[in-house]
Amino acid sequence: MIKVDPVLEALLDEARAAARNSYSPYSGFKVGAALRLTSGAVVTGTNVENVSYGLTLCAERAALVRAVSEFGPGIRIAAVAVANLNNAASPPCGACRQMLAEFVLHDAPVAFPAADGIRVMPFTDVLPLAFDMKLK
Ligand code: THU
Repeated sequence: MIKVDPVLEALLDEARAAARNSYSPYSGFKVGAALRLTSGAVVTGTNVENVSYGLTLCAERAALVRAVSEFGPGIRIAAVAVANLNNAASPPCGACRQMLAEFVLHDAPVAFPAADGIRVMPFTDVLPLAFDMKLK
């Protein structure tokens, strides 16, 4: 098992705690996310499912919308942690990566459970080619 930096380990603990609030009666998959902002604030989120399955909100996006709602549109994310209570791999999904891209520092570490344990990658490696609209 790879040793994770204690600061990131603490953020993973916050993500695990958030996962306990998961509303996931359809999948049973309890996910939590924790974002450390450049201000030092930590904002967490969990997945919230819906009987109309496609409306489900992932933990990472729940945390993101909470962070913007609480601290405004100028936030910058310095680190991301994702956890689940199912002992499964759970890298952030593509939609969450794209949403995070707009607020995250490019080299911010992203920690998540992978098949071989906790993996930590810089955000640019997690989403190398985010969509960005540059109209001419
Ligand atoms: N889920 C997340 O919370 N984050 C992800 O990045 C991927 C998937 C949730 C959505 C759904 O409630 C459950 O995991 C199963 O897909």
